[in-house]
Amino acid sequence: MSDTPSRPAAALARRRCVIVGVGSRSALYQDAIETVHAAAAELVGLCDANAGRIELARRRSLANGARPAPGYAAADFDRMLAERRPDTVIVTTPDATHVDFVVRAMEAGCDAITEKPMATDAAQCRRLLEARRRTGRQCRVTFNYRYSPARSQVKDLLMAGTIGDVLSVDFHWMLNTHHGADYFRRWHAEKKNSGGLFVHKATHHFDLVNWWLGASPVSVMATGKREFYTPATARRMGLAGSHERCHTCPEAGACAFRLDLAGNETLRALYLENERHDGYFRDRCVFRPGIDIEDTMNALVTYDTGATLSYSLNAFNAWEGYTVAFNGTLGRIEHRMVESVYADGVESAPGGGTQAVVTTRVVPLRGAGYEVEPWTATGGHGGGDRLMLEDIFSAAPAADKYLRAADERAGACSVLVGIAANRSLASGGRIDVADLIGPLPHPDHAPMPTRRDALPMPAAARG
Ligand SMILES: NC(=O)c1ccc[n+]([C@@H]2O[C@H](COP(=O)([O-])OP(=O)(O)OC[C@H]3O[C@@H](n4cnc5c(N)ncnc54)[C@H](O)[C@@H]3O)[C@@H](O)[C@H]2O)c1
Repeated sequence: MSDTPSRPAAALARRRCVIVGVGSRSALYQDAIETVHAAAAELVGLCDANAGRIELARRRSLANGARPAPGYAAADFDRMLAERRPDTVIVTTPDATHVDFVVRAMEAGCDAITEKPMATDAAQCRRLLEARRRTGRQCRVTFNYRYSPARSQVKDLLMAGTIGDVLSVDFHWMLNTHHGADYFRRWHAEKKNSGGLFVHKATHHFDLVNWWLGASPVSVMATGKREFYTPATARRMGLAGSHERCHTCPEAGACAFRLDLAGNETLRALYLENERHDGYFRDRCVFRPGIDIEDTMNALVTYDTGATLSYSLNAFNAWEGYTVAFNGTLGRIEHRMVESVYADGVESAPGGGTQAVVTTRVVPLRGAGYEVEPWTATGGHGGGDRLMLEDIFSAAPAADKYLRAADERAGACSVLVGIAANRSLASGGRIDVADLIGPLPHPDHAPMPTRRDALPMPAAARG
């Protein structure tokens, strides 16, 4: 008889996962489950509205050295849950469909992992929060931006009280005309699918602020417009006008915004070769009429800590990345990241040619400013994706003093800022976030060390 203590059966069982929505983003989860985390998880089902992409995902399993999981049409999602009995449902469909899949998964007794944004309107948020309470199942929202080492470092500086109590934040996010333009080609270009960039994209940014500050949003005022991705811009560029799509565009050779689906192996296999199944064009003209999302957005947000945020998002910028500054009672942190866009135009990661990629600078109220050596890691989204996947799939994730794992409470607190911004665009007024769904659920936050009633001013700063 072996003297090795036997592990309980539960510890040996791999987590059974299914994925719904096997487009571009799902590959991250599929590859993690089938390679790095294969000892802890297994892929037991694939579901999509497009039969061709299901077959592509099954071929991806073979390339990963894994047995392909059975595929199910979107209409057979509930049957997949009944037959495949997953522990976890991973939702990587277009934004406006997330909540329905998450709720049905939880009602079937599964936990859910959903891509951001968790929801695209207030009714969806309420529905998910109610289902979470009723079923007791877990919902994780994959805010990978939190895991980027340089952003975790900013959290570390704030938690350490480096600049005292944060009273205001200035945050400006730029998308360049490769990455930014892509949102105007795809399903994202219609608010009914994505909630617009205030929801689809800014959910990352509003979550970062909530998490960095350990705060919940109270009110939002916003402005927004679309003046670049328009038929008029096509004419200013010397084109006759906008067209249906790049693949058949009579002016493709003259357009700097052409996306060559046929010339990109990944995009061709995922989208062009599967159009016959659903008629979805991945390369629609970025200047066409009918787009209803903004390309230029500003928001002023107040928080329950008293902090205020001045935010902007621009989708046709000369460079990709962001600047954020925290104004605290003891000084200021200025953090900047320059990003470069991946070849398929879908994602970006730190990297800026000759420019400094990441800079983080602390400027005390009275004293010399200094640069902080940035924390780094490799991989998608500045190494954030890899760290997040470890946190999700590892059988024993390391304790995390920054509390980066996010649930539906953080998902709601982030997305409701964007939803309030959209309402503010429509009404022209200030929107109280609590008016959208009632009292906000409060996420768990790592403790922030300072409080406004005990400002530690250095002696030299007085008088
Ligand atoms: N966290 C990040 O940094 C990050 C990055 C990229 C994408 N995302 C998110 O991932 C999600 C998917 O984005 P993507 O770029 O992979 O889009 P995509 O268009 O490449 O893939 C979406 C897939 O969902 C399928 N689908 C559409 N409607 C469906 C339905 N009703 N039922 C089942 N399947 C359906 C489509 O056929 C397609 O295969 C989005 O919510 C997006 O916000 C997150």
